[in-house]
This record gives sequence, C-alpha cells and structure tokens, in this order.
Amino acid sequence: MNRQIRLGAFLPGGGQHIASWRHPDQPVDGATNLKFHVELAQAAERGLFDAYFLADGLAVAFGGGIEGGNARVVGFEPVTLFSALAPFTKNLGFIATSSTTYEEPYSVARKFASLDLISGGRAGWNVVTTATDAAARNFNLERQQSHAARYKRAAEHVAVVKKLWESFEDDAFIRDRESGVYFDVNKVHRTDHRGEHFQVEGPLNVPRSPQGHPVIVQAGQSDDGRELAAATAEVIFTAHQKLDTAREFYRDIKSRARGHGRDPSHVLIMPGVSPFVGRRRPRRARNTSD
Ligand SMILES: Cc1cc2nc3c(=O)[nH]c(=O)nc-3n(C[C@H](O)[C@H](O)[C@H](O)COP(=O)(O)O)c2cc1C
Repeated sequence: MNRQIRLGAFLPGGGQHIASWRHPDQPVDGATNLKFHVELAQAAERGLFDAYFLADGLAVAFGGGIEGGNARVVGFEPVTLFSALAPFTKNLGFIATSSTTYEEPYSVARKFASLDLISGGRAGWNVVTTATDAAARNFNLERQQSHAARYKRAAEHVAVVKKLWESFEDDAFIRDRESGVYFDVNKVHRTDHRGEHFQVEGPLNVPRSPQGHPVIVQAGQSDDGRELAAATAEVIFTAHQKLDTAREFYRDIKSRARGHGRDPSHVLIMPGVSPFVGRRRPRRARNTSD
C-alpha cells in the first residue's frame, strides 16, 4: 500500500533554539519580521510541507523565561501572521494556536473561519488549554485553573466553536442583485448554547468557510488531553523521546478515537522531530593500513 508522509513545519521566526537569533544567516528580528516569515512559508511550500504551525503561550515566559538573551519572548499572534502569509502561498496549511482557557468560543470560531476564507480553506486550529500561571496573570487571575478544570472547559469550548461553524448552510448566501436577496433566512442557525462555561446565542457573523470546519489539531498527552484529542482532533501533535512510549501513545489515541465512534485513520498523529543540519566533518585521510 502506498502511504504518503505528512510534513508540518514548526517555524517560529526566532528559531527553535533560544539563541538562534544570533546565527549569522538569521535576521536578528526574525520572530517579528514579516518578510522572513514569508520566506519561511514559501520554503516550506517548495519543500512540499503540508502545514506551517505556530505555537502560542499568551505570556512572555512561555518556553524559557525572560532573560535578555531569549528572542522567543516575542512573536506575532498566529492567526494575524497566517492571514498575512496566506496570499504569498498556495497550498500550505496554516495551523495557529488558540487557547480554550483564555479565549471565548465566538472569537475563536470567528478568527478561524476568517483565516479559512482568507487562505482558501487552509486553516487549522491547535486547541490548547495554556498551562502557565504567567498566562493566567495576563487574564485577570493570580494562578491558572486546575488541569481538570481547563480540560472540562476545553471540551465545551470546542463543541461550541464547531456549532458556531454550522451557523450558515453551504448555500445560505444567494447574493442576488436582481431580487435583493442576500441570504436565505431558513439556512441560518442560531447556536443557542447554554452550558456550564459558555452561553452563546449565535449565529456566527462569518459565512461558512471553505472547509466548513477548519482542521482541529490537539497535543494533549495526559488522560484528559488524550480524551479531548481522540474525541475532536483530526491531527495530533506529540513529541516522544522513546519509541516504546511513542507506540503506546499511537495505539492509545487510535483506540480512544474508535471508542468515540470515529474512524481511527481519520486521526493523524504527527510526532515532532528536531533536525540539526550541519556540514559533514572532513574525512580523515585514509591510511592504507586501515
Ligand atoms: C508539538 C506541540 C506543540 C504544542 N504547542 C502548544 C502551544 O502552542 N501552546 C500551549 O499552551 N501548549 C502547547 N503544547 C502543549 C499541549 O497542548 C499539552 O498541554 C501538553 O502536551 C501536555 O499535555 P496535557 O495538556 O494533556 O497535560 C504543545 C505540545 C506539543 C507536543
């Protein structure tokens, strides 16, 4: 059976290493340099990558403190950046991170439906619960909610976003100049969600986007995280250091997806690798007696 590998590029413009900005071939302001991100996106597309992914932590401390040498303290808001990159690319998918803990479903549904429209159906949402007190302190809290509370909210959040994406049927917009009918009121659905965490009337004020539902991505590794991923995600990121734990993760996610009545082959698992590209060391001159 022919199988195709899916490739995602995780390319924060400032590099993955906190000192990458000091590399002579890298712009010092790469994290917030739009031209550089355009070059990265176009290189990924030339290299036949399926998607370009950007993480987000909603605080400067994400992934390494605020010591003066760390260029990763700043970066673009991912959906904003991807909206700017979309016109410079044709086929590359854009997976942006948004938090279910600190953002409201209506804003998330709207942002990703807009990115999906702008990019012609290339948007993906990396659903995260944002696990730092530093982020909590930027959103009116002293410390973050418990892991379990964040995942409970996340499950409801994703369900509301998906319902909002169903606000307009595919053919709701008639836009007929002659008759003056812009849309068919019978093809619009209110969300009318009243749950534990969210009350959302809807409908969404963005039409149905090319994919209808932008791709849902998740990277939960805990029991709650795996459950959310297996129930909702089409792509699951993971970063295992050992083959046996990676295999366990793969089997567990596929069986949980089956348990949710899903076809496990519709749930792609994308393990992370960090390639180090270097020059080959010059070969030692061979001694004839070797
Ligand atoms: C490749 C990858 C990317 C991630 N990106 C983010 C991110 O952008 N923002 C974030 O808050 N968490 C991110 N995470 C963390 C996960 O969402 C998740 O919280 C973590 O893997 C721990 O699992 P748990 O939440 O089930 O405990 C990422 C994890 C992985 C493996």
